[in-house]
Amino acid sequence: MAKKSILITGASGNIGRTVSQKASKEFNILYLHTFQNIEKLIELKAQFHNECEIYIFQADITNNQKLCNKINDIISNKKLDAFVHCAARRSTDAVKLVSSNPELWEEVIKVNLLGTYYLLRAVLPFLRKASCGKIVLLGSIVSQIGLSNGSAYASSKAGISNLVKSIAIEEGVNNILINAVLPGPVEIDQSNFPTEYQQFRKKYYQEMKAQIPLHRFAQPEEVANLIMFLISDRNKYITGQEIRISGGL
Ligand SMILES: NC(=O)c1ccc[n+]([C@@H]2O[C@H](COP(=O)([O-])OP(=O)(O)OC[C@H]3O[C@@H](n4cnc5c(N)ncnc54)[C@H](OP(=O)(O)O)[C@@H]3O)[C@@H](O)[C@H]2O)c1
Repeated sequence: MAKKSILITGASGNIGRTVSQKASKEFNILYLHTFQNIEKLIELKAQFHNECEIYIFQADITNNQKLCNKINDIISNKKLDAFVHCAARRSTDAVKLVSSNPELWEEVIKVNLLGTYYLLRAVLPFLRKASCGKIVLLGSIVSQIGLSNGSAYASSKAGISNLVKSIAIEEGVNNILINAVLPGPVEIDQSNFPTEYQQFRKKYYQEMKAQIPLHRFAQPEEVANLIMFLISDRNKYITGQEIRISGGL
């Protein structure tokens, strides 16, 4: 049987790491991406005791040419069965738009929206070689409900939801299925976040908890389970969708 391959961006992050662990049990070839935390990927790779081939690589997704070269080199003309895009920039300035820093606003849009465009442009030719290529982009429910003190991030995620719809139409003819998974707040390790951003998240999470019908946050594992279903052989007909995983919110 032909080997199944997957590329996961942001594999050094919370959700990306969990998806990588699950994917190592269902795919034969894993291409794992990080921006700066290569040591986290080396650690992660060491945990996989099975037979899968693992290639780790580092790239700033805002650098179109370098990103494209890396992806072309690493996949080297083979087919790609799945692409899960978890890399993202948070709007750590956590201020209202009126007081926001234009450079930071631009940076969030650049990483989250332009970076996604560059990635899709780079991986689609390889996904077209698979019999039924699957793509999952990580959005967020804030693209639908807004985010006070995080308008750049919320807008960038709205762009992702829209990209999914356009690409589903463009690539349907190539049997490529693309969906956006929109988590609500996820319980993650926040120890590396700047203090101001940690305070912003604490306040936001408290407010959200009261509104979430299940009265708890998602675990990365729960988000990863949904992603794994969407990229599995069991999904043959869901495409172009924004799928919320938000405890009923
Ligand atoms: N966690 C939540 O509560 C939540 C809720 C809704 C949606 N989401 C979405 O789910 C996805 C994963 O979230 P997460 O919590 O796992 O994120 P995370 O832990 O903060 O990880 C972010 C990842 O993005 C990478 N990255 C950042 N800037 C980059 C750049 N310029 N170029 C390339 N890679 C870059 C980071 O690489 P380094 O490790 O090298 O810095 C890291 O691997 C994101 O799209 C996020 O917006 C998360």
